[in-house]
Parts: sequence; C-alpha cells; structure tokens
Amino acid sequence: MNIDVRPGNVLEEDAAVGVLLAFEGEALPDVVASLLEAEDFTGKPNQTLLVYPKGAAAPKRLLLVGLGGRDGVSLERVSQAAATAIRQVRGLQAESATMELPAGIGDAAAVGQAAAEGLLLGAYRYLVHRTGMKADETFEVGSVVVLAGTDTDAVAAGVAAGIAIGDGVRLARDLVNRPGELKTPPLLADEAVALGQRQSAVTVTIFDEHRLAEEGFGGVIAVGKGSDSPPRFIIMEYGADLTDVPTVCVVGKGLTFDSGGLNIKPADGMESMKNDMGGSAAVFGIVHAVAALGLPIHLVGLIPSAENMPSGRSYRPGDIVTTLSGRTIEILNTDAEGRVILADGLHYAQRYEPDAIIELSTLTGAVIIALGNVATAVMSTDQELADALVSAGTTTGDRGWQLPLWDEYYEMVKSDIADVKNLAGRAAGSITAGAFLAGFAGDYKFAHLDIAGTAWLDSPKKPYDSKGGTGSGVRIVTEYLRSLSN
Ligand code: BES
Ligand code: MN
Ligand code: ZN
Repeated sequence: MNIDVRPGNVLEEDAAVGVLLAFEGEALPDVVASLLEAEDFTGKPNQTLLVYPKGAAAPKRLLLVGLGGRDGVSLERVSQAAATAIRQVRGLQAESATMELPAGIGDAAAVGQAAAEGLLLGAYRYLVHRTGMKADETFEVGSVVVLAGTDTDAVAAGVAAGIAIGDGVRLARDLVNRPGELKTPPLLADEAVALGQRQSAVTVTIFDEHRLAEEGFGGVIAVGKGSDSPPRFIIMEYGADLTDVPTVCVVGKGLTFDSGGLNIKPADGMESMKNDMGGSAAVFGIVHAVAALGLPIHLVGLIPSAENMPSGRSYRPGDIVTTLSGRTIEILNTDAEGRVILADGLHYAQRYEPDAIIELSTLTGAVIIALGNVATAVMSTDQELADALVSAGTTTGDRGWQLPLWDEYYEMVKSDIADVKNLAGRAAGSITAGAFLAGFAGDYKFAHLDIAGTAWLDSPKKPYDSKGGTGSGVRIVTEYLRSLSN
C-alpha cells in the first residue's frame, strides 16, 4: 500500500472513498450532516458509517470513523481509527482512498505517524500459505492519500516515520507467523542476510555452528544440540561509522521452535511455540525501522538462534553448561532454554561497550499471569532506562510495565553446583528469569523486555492488531531509540 501526503479537504477531493475522522460530540460539516440521521453516527471510538454523497461532496463514498471525544483523543485513537478505516475500505474493494487528518490535536508529525502506522498495521494479514483464494479475499487497497491541513511537510515527515516503523512491525509479524519448519536458525539467518541486502546501511554477520563452537557459545550450542537444524548467531549492525552517537545493543531470543526439549511441553498449545522467536523478530523490525529512519545511533542487533527439540543429542536436566562468559549454568529444566541462549548473546553484547543493552524475549509463561496480553514486562538495572522505555511504550501503544529487580531475586537463581541455575521455582518466575539475564550483562545498563504475553494474540482487541504475531517490541524500542537522538 502506497501512502502519500498532500494538502486538501476530504469533501472536495475526488475519491472512491473519502475517510472523515470525526470527534464525538462535535458537529459534522453541514453537507455531511445532511446525508445521515444524527443518531446513526455519534463519533464513538472506531464507530463507522458509510454514506453516499451523490454529488453533495466530491468523493463517491464517504466513510465516517469515530475518534471519540476531543478531550480524550490520543495518538493511539488516531492509529486505531486509521486501522478501522483501512479495513472498511478494503471491504469495499476500493483501489484507493483519501483520509483527512483531524486538526488541532497537537504535533502534526506525530499525528501523521500514528495514522500511517494504523493504516499499515490495520491492513496487515498473513496469507502466505492460503491457496485458492478468490480475488475479493486477497484484495488489498493500493493507495491512500493522507490529506493534511497547513502542516503538510510535518505530516509528510511523520507519515514517512510511520511507514518505517509500520514496515518494521509487519516484518516482525511475518517472521512470527511463519511456521517453525520454514524459519529454522539457518533460515532465520538467511532472512537477516536479506535484510542487509535491502538496507545497505546494515551489515550482517552470521556465526554457524562451527564458529559458535570455536568461540565458546556454550549456551546456544547446548540448547541447539537436540535439533537437526544447527544453531546460529546473527549480528546486524547499523551506524558503526557514525561518530559521537550512542551505541545500543538490541538482543532478541531467536528460539525458532520451543518444544520444551526433554522436558517436553504438553500437546495443547505447542503449535504456538513457533512464536518463541518473537524477540528476534522484534530485533529485525527495529533494525529495519532504525535504518529506514536513518537515526543517528550505532545499533547492534544480536540474535542467538536455536531450535529446542528432544532427541538423543539433547541437553539434559542436570547438565552444566559453560557459557561464552565462562559462567556456568545448572540446567534444571530444558524448557527454560531462552535464558541459556541469551546468556551468550548478552555477554557478546559487552564487546561493543554499549550505552545500553535492551533484550527482548518471549521468556516466561509467568508474565502472562502477571500482565496478561496487555503489556510487556520491563525489568532494568537502570531506573532511567526503565522509565524511558515505559514512557516510549505509553506514547506508542506498544505498552510496557515495570517489574522490580531487587537483590533477593538474584539470590534465587544461585546454584549449589554451578554459578546459576536456569529454574528458580514458580514464585516471581518472570523476575528471577530477568535477574538471571542481568547477571550476563556485566555493568552495562541493561533492560529486559518479556514479550511472552504480547508477541502473540489469539483474540486481538485493537483494530491494528491481527490474530497471531503482533510485532510487539518494535514500536516501544524504536521510539526509545528515537528519543536518544532528540
Ligand atoms: N518460550 C517459553 C515461554 C512462553 C510461554 C512464551 C508462553 C510464550 C508463551 C519458555 O521457553 C518457557 O518454556 N518457559 C517456561 C519456564 C519454566 C520451565 C521455568 C515457562 O514459562 O513455563
Ligand atoms: Mn521453553
Ligand atoms: Zn522458550
């Protein structure tokens, strides 16, 4: 879908569908009001009404979409309204549409960005493996013209940012939705190489299983041992040549399928464990977005990738794994594998001497008990970093909420027979996992985002979410990275 920006008024522009975003409790323009019964459209959030102006206004069809009251309006509402609109336009099989942005609700660039993200995410579907679909089922809207008021340049800049970020989220969704068989660690590495080819500012390096063994990636190797698909370590670097810019490492869990290993998971729901590379998918999306935005930062995306399978070569409960850092892990449960591969990824990140390490992972089922599917859990060794991330989450709608990393939690992951153990019991399961990880980040500012509850939705509630992969983590972290250069 193409999104263009130009000045204009939706009622005066010829269009197959003109989208008018309208506030609750405010009068519609007279020509529009004359086309409907007032009680049929009040402007409640995401309410829609289609009317046919028949020459009273320029568009063939006019789609009203509610924004709710002006007082409560937010960028999130704009994104949702845009997503609602594009789904309706698609349903009408209209090749193109115009959409006028509401005026007087603050920063024009931010409104343009929110609209573009809503359009791209609302239009997202994963149809790769569906066959025999009819043309009306696969139909996609070709182009949307965003009509801006006086600030056309600012809106255009915001729309460009929204496209960069929206495309990053869509990339992450595609990777999460793809079946495990088609994104084994070597295939995931191929995707990184492809990203490097699309984004010339991104340099990609892949460590194969031999290189991993040479370098001593004991955690990645242990978890990957049981699978016929060998593990990989993926490095995607952007902005290494920039001077006087912050360096941030973004580390993502790339567990391409988590069967649990010898501590095998129950059959129910195991199919959704193809989403266990959601953290790495977010890293792909963030790297894409940062490169497309051309942010003045040095960003290093790091992805330890393995498949957790039961076999005669699997790592066992009771094994002791020597990680890249030299620190040892007592394996008490092979299903707590994320922290084992991330231990290597976090240690590797230290060689960049980064200003911050942000790690994303579908790490614990316990986080769904704590926060549901509503927010990502944020844990950090640095309060300023935690605050900045939570605030970026609120701004973008890709929400994060903080959990503590107090000393007691670090005690809970100590082992009698190794340095740490990969299982600390049910109590505070998400936090002990976070404390485990923090122990591998050295003295660097570190944040852990547990996206197990947000990376995948069986019943999406927001119009810009779709069933399956959500791309959570992309918007919150990209917004944080943008804030570094403001
Ligand atoms: N990948 C899972 C966590 C997960 C659960 C992600 C639900 C997405 C949705 C992780 O590897 C895992 O299996 N965690 C175990 C840890 C336990 C064995 C300590 C869990 O949460 O049950
Ligand atoms: Mn697991
Ligand atoms: Zn896992």
